[in-house]
Amino acid sequence: MTIKLNLLSHAFALAASLLSATAFAGSAHAQDAGLVVYNAQHESLGREWVEAFTKKTGIKVTMRQGGDMQFANQIIQEGDASPADVFLTENSPAMTLVDGAGLFAPVEKDTLDQVPEQYRPADGMWTGIAARTTVFAYDKTKLSEDKLPKSLLDLADPAWKGRWGAAPAGADFQAIVAALLQLKGEDATKAWLKGLKDNATPYKGNSVAMKAVNAGEVEGAVIYHYYWFGDQAKTGENSKNVGMHYFKNQDPGAFVSVSGGGVLKSTQHMKEAQAFLKFITGKAGQAVLKDGTSYEYAVGKDAASNSKLTPLADLNAPKVEASTLDSKKVVELMTAAGLI
Ligand SMILES: [Fe+2]
Repeated sequence: MTIKLNLLSHAFALAASLLSATAFAGSAHAQDAGLVVYNAQHESLGREWVEAFTKKTGIKVTMRQGGDMQFANQIIQEGDASPADVFLTENSPAMTLVDGAGLFAPVEKDTLDQVPEQYRPADGMWTGIAARTTVFAYDKTKLSEDKLPKSLLDLADPAWKGRWGAAPAGADFQAIVAALLQLKGEDATKAWLKGLKDNATPYKGNSVAMKAVNAGEVEGAVIYHYYWFGDQAKTGENSKNVGMHYFKNQDPGAFVSVSGGGVLKSTQHMKEAQAFLKFITGKAGQAVLKDGTSYEYAVGKDAASNSKLTPLADLNAPKVEASTLDSKKVVELMTAAGLI
C-alpha cells in the first residue's frame, strides 16, 4: 500500500513537473522572436511573403530590413552568433559573399526541386526566389524607338554625354555591372564605367532615377523593370512619360538578376527556416509575385509571373552564372572609376 502510494505520488510529481516544463516552454516561446529573416528584398515583398507564411503555418517571423551588401557583411561579421535564420536578397552577389564565407546550410532538396537550375547555384547552398530584368527607362516625349541605344555599351559613347542616369551606389546597379564584367571582361567593363562617369547623372536609387526621366532631367536611365510597373500600378505620376526599352539580343543590358534566399547554418530553427524557403519558392510563395505588388518575376517551376510583364522567355537575356558574379571586383572597379 505504501509502495503504491509512493508510486502514485511520484507519478503525480512527474506529471506536475512535465506540466511546468510545458508551461515554461510556452512562455519562452511567447518571448521568442520566432524566425528571424534578414530581408534585403523590397520591404513590401518581404512582408507579403512573411504574412502569407505565418498565416499558413502559424510560425511567427520577425523581419529585419536592410540592403544586400549591408546584410551580407553583417552576417559575415556576426558569424555563428548571427540572429538571422534566413537571408533574402534583391540580387545574387550578396548571396555569393555569404556562401563564400561558408555560412549557409544546404537548401533542402524539395526546395531546390521547385526552382529550375538556371535560377540557383550548382552548390545548392541558396536558391533563386524571384528575378528582375535590366531596362532602359526612357522619356517617350524625347526619344523615338529608333533613337534608343541598341546595347547597354552604347551608353558609354560621347553621343550619350549628359543624357542618361543610373543609381551606381545601389546593389541593383552593381549586379548589372557584375554581369557586364562576367560577359565582356575587365577591360570592356572599365571602359564602360569610364563612359558612365563621363556621361551619366548619378541618382540615389532607381525610383529617383526614373522620376528624373519622367521629369525630363535625363532622357533615360538604366534601372530594373519593376520600378515602372510599381508606379503604374499606383498613380503613374512618376512614370507617365516613361517607356521601357528591353535590350534583348543577349545584350549585357538584358541581364536578368536573380534574387536569392538561403538558410544560415547557425540557425536554431532549421526546420522552420527551411520551411520558409520552401514556402516562398513553392506555389503559394511564387503566387505572391504574380498577384502582389512587387512586379518581380516568378522563378518557380511552372509558376506564372504577372501577366502585365514581358515574359522572361521573351527577354532574350544573356546567359550569366549568378553564383560567380564578382561583387568585390565590381566595387574595386567602380571605386577606381570614381563612381562610388
Ligand atoms: Fe530594387
